[in-house]
This record gives sequence, structure tokens and C-alpha cells, in this order.
Amino acid sequence: MEKIYITYNQIHNTMKDLSEQVKASGFNPDLMVAIGTGGFIPARMAKTFLNIPILTVGIAYYDLDDNPTEKPTITQWMDQPDKQIRGKKVLLVDEVDDTRATIGFCLDELKKHEPAEIAICVIHNKKKKKKHEIPDWINHYFIGENLQDEWICYPWDAEDTDMQDKLSR
Ligand code: G4P
Ligand code: MG
Repeated sequence: MEKIYITYNQIHNTMKDLSEQVKASGFNPDLMVAIGTGGFIPARMAKTFLNIPILTVGIAYYDLDDNPTEKPTITQWMDQPDKQIRGKKVLLVDEVDDTRATIGFCLDELKKHEPAEIAICVIHNKKKKKKHEIPDWINHYFIGENLQDEWICYPWDAEDTDMQDKLSR
């Protein structure tokens, strides 16, 4: 599989662009929900521009005994979700929309807490068959860049970020 190397600076600039898209759309989020771990750094970068709080959640494909699971399970959720989510406009942030299994699961879980609205924001979307449709109640889906089904090497996985910068486009 083709590999594509992304630098921190590229991600910063993409999150700046995405934040501007969010503002221009009229969707005025009250808070972000970052899906860990890939969504953590992009959400923090967006906070510089959007200036709203971040709640973090964890979703995994293994159970408490470390056995792989078919369906995603929640490893971390926010405190008092009904209070923090009900009636709020939520910007769900992740690094990549790949199969969309994690993002789709997270959307369904967040919906249970009756937010006013949820919008999705990802750095990269892969143009491929997805395991989950974008629900029809989603009005805004912000994408930094659409890619083919390549393997994206993110800077937070690199041990040597100078090398990562050299390998990037
Ligand atoms: P999706 O809903 O975001 O599409 O996630 P999906 O369940 O399809 O993806 C499973 C895991 O694989 C996710 O990590 C996702 O971030 C990661 N992944 C998919 N494609 C790529 C890629 O091209 N490059 C990298 N580096 N990761 C990719 P996760 O279980 O959420 O873990 P984490 O890495 O976010 O901690
Ligand atoms: Mg992820």
C-alpha cells in the first residue's frame, strides 16, 4: 500500500482551514468531542482557532481481557454526558475517516444524549467503501483532504519528526 507522510505543520494548517470552514458554515459549535487517540492533537490545534472546550472519548476493538471484538466498545466516555451534551452543538473530531466504523459508532452513542446538532470534522477522508453511512441528521461534514485508500503516516507515530518532514510531500 502507498504511504503518505504528513507533518505537524501540515496538520496545523489543515486544522486552521477546517476551523475557518466551520465558522463560515454558520455551524457554531459549543464544544468538541475528540476521538482518541488520533483526534486528540487535531482537536487541540482547532481549539486555538475555535476557542471551545474539548471532551475526549475512547473507542476500542478489544475487550477488558484484551481479546479482539467485532464491534467497537467504549473504553472512555465523558462525565455526566446528559448534562454536557444535551442541547449542545457538538463538533466530533477525528484524524481519519477510514472504514467509518469508529466514527459511526461514536455518532450513534453521542446522539443518545440528545445534542442539538453534531457535525463531523476529520483531517483526512479515504475514498473507499464505508461500514457506516453518514446519518441523514448530519448537516455538516468538514474534511481537510480526500485521499485514495493509502496508508497515512501521522507525525505523532514518528520517532524522528525531522525525517517525517523530509519524507512528506
Ligand atoms: P474510522 O471510524 O475513523 O474510519 O476508524 P476505523 O475504525 O476504520 O479505523 C480503525 C483504526 O485505524 C483507527 O485508529 C484509525 O485511526 C486507524 N487508521 C485507519 N487508517 C489509517 C491510516 O491510514 N493511518 C493511520 N496512522 N491510522 C489509520 P484507532 O483505533 O482510533 O486508534 P488511534 O490510532 O486513533 O489511537
Ligand atoms: Mg483514531
